[in-house]
Amino acid sequence: MTDHRSPDARFRTSLLEENDGPATNPTENRTMGEIIAERFSRRAFLKCSLAVSAIAATVSPLALVAADDARAAEGSAFSFDELEAGIDDKHHVAPGYDADVLLRWGDPLFADSPEFDPARQSAEAQARQFGYNNDYVGYIGIDGSAEHGLLVVNHEYTNPHLMFPGIVKIVEKDGKKAAELTPLSKEQVDVEMAAHGGTIVEIRKEGGKWQVVRDGKLNRRITSNTEMALSGPVAGHDRVKTNADPSGTKVIGTFNNCAGGVTPWGTYVMAEENIHGYFSGELPEGHKEAANYKRLGIPEGAYEWGAHYDRFDLAKEPNEPNRFGWIVEVDVNDPTSTPRKRTAMGRFKHEGAESIVAKDGRVVFYLGDDERFEYVYKFVTAGRFDPDDRAANMNLLDDGTLHVAKFAADGTVEWLPIVFGQGPLTAENGFAGQADVLIETRRAADLLGATKMDRPEDIQPNRVNGKVYVMLTNNSKRKADQVDAANPRADNAFGHIIEISEDGGDFAGTRGKWEVLLKCGDPAVADVGATFSTATTANGWFGMPDNCAVDSAGRLWVATDGQGPKATGRTDGLWAVDTEGPARATSKLFFRVPIGAEMCGPLFAPDDQTAFVAVQHPGDGGEDWEAFGRPSYYEDPSTRWPDFKPDMPVRPAVVAITRQGGGKIAI
Ligand code: FEO
Ligand code: CA
Ligand code: CA
Repeated sequence: MTDHRSPDARFRTSLLEENDGPATNPTENRTMGEIIAERFSRRAFLKCSLAVSAIAATVSPLALVAADDARAAEGSAFSFDELEAGIDDKHHVAPGYDADVLLRWGDPLFADSPEFDPARQSAEAQARQFGYNNDYVGYIGIDGSAEHGLLVVNHEYTNPHLMFPGIVKIVEKDGKKAAELTPLSKEQVDVEMAAHGGTIVEIRKEGGKWQVVRDGKLNRRITSNTEMALSGPVAGHDRVKTNADPSGTKVIGTFNNCAGGVTPWGTYVMAEENIHGYFSGELPEGHKEAANYKRLGIPEGAYEWGAHYDRFDLAKEPNEPNRFGWIVEVDVNDPTSTPRKRTAMGRFKHEGAESIVAKDGRVVFYLGDDERFEYVYKFVTAGRFDPDDRAANMNLLDDGTLHVAKFAADGTVEWLPIVFGQGPLTAENGFAGQADVLIETRRAADLLGATKMDRPEDIQPNRVNGKVYVMLTNNSKRKADQVDAANPRADNAFGHIIEISEDGGDFAGTRGKWEVLLKCGDPAVADVGATFSTATTANGWFGMPDNCAVDSAGRLWVATDGQGPKATGRTDGLWAVDTEGPARATSKLFFRVPIGAEMCGPLFAPDDQTAFVAVQHPGDGGEDWEAFGRPSYYEDPSTRWPDFKPDMPVRPAVVAITRQGGGKIAI
């Protein structure tokens, strides 16, 4: 296949989700990120090579910022000894804990699965093994057990330069070294497709350590080739009919499953996020979906799937992209069940779908659309959850009301219903019915006047204190004249966290209050404007909040995406954040990832005795010639985590963290 793209474009990294979208800043102004990059580069990094031991020795955040550890001991309600921030090729956890690798890319999941052999990968083998780039992690106890259950894990995307040998070649170009990338073969594309999706796998804790039950009868891989049903208002609509599926009800596969959730009735929901990258080709001239696709950045063409499969080529299947960008629900109790794309929950770049049962029994799902200037949503089911009848809950997600958030400067938030026929959502604006409104959820939210946010990611309701936490990763494109109360920083390089209190404690209601819990970034740099408590140590601050978890005591844990040598001088990780009392906005580092990775998951087991975390894209991002002197790729990665064997590539993996000697993670 002819490759028309620049070599660098094919280093597919996590930045895909930030690179696209309507936001562009034409000015030449230096961004906050550039100013900070200079700070960390000058202090720590320009002299570094990829020798990670040198990096570890050079970047000592304690040396960068004066800290007051004594006040931290008083301030944080978390009693663990804080981990030191930094950058190296390994993962690290706070003293007194074990962080054991549980599931790595390629690990066998079934009795008949082949062992992982990176030199002889095949789609058939990959479909029977743990997928790539683990993101969301959920746990569904078997018979209510906290020590025996199903782990459900999303596999968001693939990094071919780290997965396959022979993709990257270092060549001389104009007297300088450069990376040349070989287009993927069809066989490699097929491996990629099998490495996407999700894993459902039985796990059991024995002797204090988690084990994979390889012959668990509910073990399952969901991939980009798993047959799924479209259900809800969009099913069967003309805009989702294709040559391969004239019924508009049967979709092949899911991909870019970022975060997700486990429903109160014990199903697994997967959020389809950056779907734009998988489509290529051109729509026929004047096609009616052109504006719809432009709003989502389709086609982006980062993947080569369209060269081998018509369904990813817009010229051949112009309606196919309307069949992606949904929330997918999987019944984990039946490994032959057909996953259902729940169209009532809207179509956009879904980050996650965490839920809570409202007072009246309706179920509320909080949904982020992860792109700069996109929106925060919630879906309220029409029916009520029946805790005694699982079957009665199985189609709750087909009927309900999607809302989008409008944050006012007076500290109130209004949830605006996205319903055909109400307000501007009428034929005059090109909507013929609710199916059109849902297919073009973003445009509907635009017309309603929703608040444009700084990359909404995970949104977590907290059943202990009744609050809802919204992670907003960053938005370096927000200009000074675009600042508003809920997005208070221009050039927001480090993100912030919003706390919502629904009026009357009613999660299903349409009004609430909000405030900013934290503006993130280095509090030692005044221009950043971070608002961590003064009890937060030099290790305790972070940037780029992305995923989060609330433990059963109601405490907030925040995982980050996008730190690193140039942005913050530390890797991503998991921070424990106080939300109550005098310690509010105090943050403390608990776990950090190896170089190049982002921190996904996180999840606490129901007894709070295990924290599961997902280390995504370790070793990625090292294509920065200025910082590293060479790219990080299959043959020469910045880390060979977690195996550290010369014949084994770096592998994304899920890690189980437990307290040495047992007990709850945090006391
Ligand atoms: Fe896939 Fe928004 O992180
Ligand atoms: Ca995420
Ligand atoms: Ca992310």
